[in-house]
Amino acid sequence: MAGITLTITDLIVRRGSFTLAAKSIECPRFKITVLIGPNGSGKTTLLRAAIGAERNIQGQIALDGVEISRLPIEKRSIGYVPPKPTLFSNTTVLFNLTWAARLRHLNKSYVEEVAHLLNIEHLLEKRVEHLSSGQAQKIAIARALVGRPKAMLLDEPSAFLDHDNKMILYQTLDLLKRQNIPILLATNDLIDALHLSDRLYRIEGGEVKLYSDDRLDRFSGQLGLREALSSLLTKQPPLS
Ligand SMILES: Nc1ncnc2c1ncn2[C@@H]1O[C@H](COP(=O)(O)OP(=O)(O)OP(=O)(O)O)[C@@H](O)[C@H]1O
Ligand SMILES: [Mg+2]
Repeated sequence: MAGITLTITDLIVRRGSFTLAAKSIECPRFKITVLIGPNGSGKTTLLRAAIGAERNIQGQIALDGVEISRLPIEKRSIGYVPPKPTLFSNTTVLFNLTWAARLRHLNKSYVEEVAHLLNIEHLLEKRVEHLSSGQAQKIAIARALVGRPKAMLLDEPSAFLDHDNKMILYQTLDLLKRQNIPILLATNDLIDALHLSDRLYRIEGGEVKLYSDDRLDRFSGQLGLREALSSLLTKQPPLS
């Protein structure tokens, strides 16, 4: 498949008695690849393995065909956004973004570029504790993007958001998708999966399997939302 930039192959991760296996995950750029699975199915484990935060892993992780599995976290160039933003709360948004740029020895002008791109210029002087949950999640994404990642991994980014804030998140992800980097997003939310996925993987019994490599909203347009959700719940593959 052309244009793939993040690939995970023959991955096995052991965490205590839990084992996660993924034979092949392909995350193309300009697309959102969604990983769906219930609580405890291994979504976070897989993302942590990709960024280099898990020990005891087998398999290959590659960016643009270049193996990164042996590199430490800071050398992998993968942005990671956890479910709850971990921003410095007693400072401004600008401080948080500038801090991320300094960490990577990047020019402050890149902060302005990202702020413009994600439409957050009006938030830069705000104190973090005055942000809504949706705004904070947006800033967490911006902060990861300031590090100039070659791929972005998001772990249940909508977990603590109401519907209005989810819409803000979806718009942000749409902007992110145009940045020529692959996005891998883990969720247990069927609406996220339907709304966001260009490519969808499921975790079943510790194994990651491809469910659809097409936009699910196209397929829900054919089926109707209720049937589409029910198909996802009952694990029936989508229409071809
Ligand atoms: N430090 C650990 N040691 C041993 N087992 C662990 C550890 N952390 C998680 N696990 C186990 O690994 C499995 C996968 O956990 P993981 O956090 O990856 O799931 P998840 O799909 O992200 O769940 P959630 O939706 O609740 O975030 C679970 O069965 C969990 O009990
Ligand atoms: Mg998790």
